[in-house]
Amino acid sequence: MTCFTFLKPSFWTILIAFSFVLFLVNSSLSQHQQDASLPEGAGKMLVEQLCTSCHSLSTITRSGFDGVEMWKSVQESMMVLHEEEAAIIAQYLSDHFPAQEDRKPNLIDGPVDIDIQEWIVPTLGQRSRDPIEAPDGSIWWTGMWASLVGRLDPTTGAMKEYPLPPDAKPHCIIPNDDGSIWYTGNSNGTIGKLDPTTGDITEFPTKSKDPHTAVFHPNGQLYFMSQRSAMLGRLNPVTGELTEIDTEPRPYGTIVDHDGMVWIAYNGTNKLASMHPESMEIQYYSISDDGTRIRRLGVDSKGMI
Ligand code: HEC
Repeated sequence: MTCFTFLKPSFWTILIAFSFVLFLVNSSLSQHQQDASLPEGAGKMLVEQLCTSCHSLSTITRSGFDGVEMWKSVQESMMVLHEEEAAIIAQYLSDHFPAQEDRKPNLIDGPVDIDIQEWIVPTLGQRSRDPIEAPDGSIWWTGMWASLVGRLDPTTGAMKEYPLPPDAKPHCIIPNDDGSIWYTGNSNGTIGKLDPTTGDITEFPTKSKDPHTAVFHPNGQLYFMSQRSAMLGRLNPVTGELTEIDTEPRPYGTIVDHDGMVWIAYNGTNKLASMHPESMEIQYYSISDDGTRIRRLGVDSKGMI
């Protein structure tokens, strides 16, 4: 039987209602105060309105660039703005957020001249990452926030993007020798395969929540790390057979050495590990400084990790 009878508002119901309204006002105030970390000025409102759909304001306030032109080019990589809005925002941000001295590069003299060429990816603000060269010389990347993978022909500059399931949010991309493109579905717990000729996607659900970085082994199998789930996996791309095991916190980068051992870098502990590709037996190696966290690995010509 229900016993909520509000026939006549008593003193207490009015008091409770009033406190509730106060609570709402208060929490929306503190929400506002959090957002109000921008300094006053023309452009503040525009930044608050237009620039917070993908990331918080702190992404902007932590950053810094010198001059209106630099700020314009940063903005242009994220969204299309009307010219006047772009000018107001760029002026405002360059006035208040110049490049931070301690984050400026330390230029040193050397015999090498390096040219950097940049390509703006078609979908803006996609968080393009982890570019890799496929056997045919094309460059593939993942657009994590837009849940896509893209292909760049570096000689012509032509780019094509392939949409993935919206909740995949791919982290890493791995071209296979047969021309298929594989990615780690970091948000929907899958390994995915793209057929670039048809755009068809095949998903392989994993036990882990967040496949992160992966590598193809010469034995044809895909080995993958799941950072937050603290798991390592092996997927047979032909049969779909999947094996997953638990490991130390936050396995991150991986590489196959000259002897075919799979190496793992840990971002949550001071360890490296090698894993046997067949038995998946793991040997851990502690780094002497227990504050060390490792992300990416490489093998040099002598086989050193
Ligand atoms: C469509 C999504 C999207 C929108 C809208 C967006 N951004 Fe971003 N922004 C990104 C992504 C993606 C990154 C990279 C974040 C990362 O890798 O952690 C980023 C990063 C940044 C950074 C840090 C860059 C650095 O190298 O330090 C700044 C500054 C920034 N955005 C400014 C803005 C401003 C100003 C606006 C509004 C004019 C805006 N963003 C709107 C997607 C967006």
